Amino acid sequence: MSKDQELRKSAYEEIEKHQSLVESDPYRLHYHIMPPVGLLNDPNGFIQFQGTYHLFYQWMPYKTDHGAKLWGHYSSEDLVHWTHEEIALTPSEWFEKNGCYSGSAIEHDGKLYAFYTGNVKDENGNRESYQCLAVSEDGIHFDKKGPIAHLPDGYTAHFRDPKVWKQNGRWFMVIGAQTEDEKGAVALFTSENLMDWTHAGILAGAGQEPLGEFGYMFECPDLFELDGRDVLVFSPQGLEADGMNYQNVYQAGYVTGTFDPEEGTYEHGAFTELDHGFDFYAPQTTVDAHGRRLMFGWMSVPDQNEQDHPTIAHKWLHNMTLPRELTWQDGQMHQQPVQELEALRQGDAVDHQVRLNKESRTLDGVDGKAVELMMSDIDIQQGWFGVSFGSNARILYSKEQQVLTLERQSYVDGTVEKRQVEVPQLKSLRVYVDTSSIEVFANEGTHVMTARFYPAPNDESICFESSDETSFHICKWELTQVIE
Ligand code: FRU
Repeated sequence: MSKDQELRKSAYEEIEKHQSLVESDPYRLHYHIMPPVGLLNDPNGFIQFQGTYHLFYQWMPYKTDHGAKLWGHYSSEDLVHWTHEEIALTPSEWFEKNGCYSGSAIEHDGKLYAFYTGNVKDENGNRESYQCLAVSEDGIHFDKKGPIAHLPDGYTAHFRDPKVWKQNGRWFMVIGAQTEDEKGAVALFTSENLMDWTHAGILAGAGQEPLGEFGYMFECPDLFELDGRDVLVFSPQGLEADGMNYQNVYQAGYVTGTFDPEEGTYEHGAFTELDHGFDFYAPQTTVDAHGRRLMFGWMSVPDQNEQDHPTIAHKWLHNMTLPRELTWQDGQMHQQPVQELEALRQGDAVDHQVRLNKESRTLDGVDGKAVELMMSDIDIQQGWFGVSFGSNARILYSKEQQVLTLERQSYVDGTVEKRQVEVPQLKSLRVYVDTSSIEVFANEGTHVMTARFYPAPNDESICFESSDETSFHICKWELTQVIE
């Protein structure tokens, strides 16, 4: 049996062996992409190819920890119902033996081209990285072409996560990098034929202005045009917490500016975090046939108490966020759950016009563990307004401070921890709860907060509270289970 066949066989055996344990987990998700067994991390190769959406993912099927990753694969016609496909890539060759790491996909000549990083550790534990290509006719089966871009001088072997696009008749690739003096950077490559790639310099970071000192490594870069500006998304490591910013171990965010494809240069501004919750990292975008810029993120952060998640007892760990559509309106980025997710709603909405007066209460029919809440026309007279989910997560908005807070009970030690972001005026809140995940979209997605949380399995209560007088309109939908 070849190495590839062996790795596939044992991954499928792991699914077989642990499927019922995974399925019996009360924290198993109903409508978020999660691994059939083992650990899932970054979204990879997100593309709409021949009409079908494909989302590959970093997958460690053999344990709930990191290691020599495979590319797992889900496909969907509608971004709602997902089919788990055959394994796309296994780390079976010398140039990827310690993992087929993150990368992206493009369509060219009717084929799907997947670019990824071959991660290699030699006998002494030294790292090597190879940017590799695998080509597929059907989006399912891949033919590996091996390394196509080499590590230029001036960088360490922390060089990974190629994202490829075409512009002005040329191919471009951004790569997450670390310079020799240990600064995070985004490297740019160009190609005429997708096989031979030339280093075209550093696009951002490396200690240069305007970011200046900005961490020791940038992972998962992604450069794209959004409503007239060029957005560079990346995940920097090594930033110090700064007030409400950079509270997680590592961050994920973006800068905006102008990319010059002729010169290979990028003028850009300051960094903004994409998500102000606890669990969001390594996002990746694609543009679909409707021209929408869509994004998935990994709903976790590397090295952030990963081994303390209770789902490990059920042999799985981590999941994706919901797919979000990115737009730019009124001078800021908006992230909204894709419209297709309305198909998750079962039956009619429960709706209420609510006025709270210095009280805390539940609302008829507004509870559940897989739900969508849409609160609009929020009017807070003074003080604060809050929504709590069981006794384990709470959203709070302070009118005086103009701060939105997401609290949760820590799954490590049970203490209450919080993340915060300034929101000038809270007008609407859209919340998706899925057993152990919560995603909060404030003001049509100008501010987003995402987290895993672990309420007692039968605690499905949702409670609304206000320190003074608050009114709002609420619709609540029960959501169906689509992840089988
Ligand atoms: C980000 C990351 C990537 C790497 C992958 C490995 O979470 O560290 O830089 O390619 O995960 O699984």
